[in-house]
Amino acid sequence: MSTLIRTGISLDRELLLRFDRIIRKKGYKNRSEAIRDLVRDYAVGEDVEEDRTVVGALTLVYDHHRPKLSEQLLEVQHHAHAMVLAATHVHLDHHNCLEVVLMKGRSSQVRHIADQILTLRGVKHGKLVLTTEGKGLR
Ligand code: NI
Repeated sequence: MSTLIRTGISLDRELLLRFDRIIRKKGYKNRSEAIRDLVRDYAVGEDVEEDRTVVGALTLVYDHHRPKLSEQLLEVQHHAHAMVLAATHVHLDHHNCLEVVLMKGRSSQVRHIADQILTLRGVKHGKLVLTTEGKGLR
């Protein structure tokens, strides 16, 4: 059970007005919830920087006709079997495939696998999103 603590912050008026505008657009009901999310984002950023366990979603689009690419993609994932939780494949059209690879491990390891995949010839675009496994975040 965690304790809720109230705190006050001093902020430039213009900056606060801008913050309020942004969070209203995003749909926050109040500043507290928006600030809590910012703090959580900082915490996840620290987890990544400190090489803690994170979960990652790598999304990539690749050329289906590039020789050997499908085998290479599988090879990298098999090699990292302990960290690859799941992978989803979608045939976008005759030439392009979309794949989402879900991983869990130390941030440096997850990034390394993502880099190995994203630098393969025939991968057109991709992004890795790192987030928390949820423990320790309220
Ligand atoms: Ni495909």
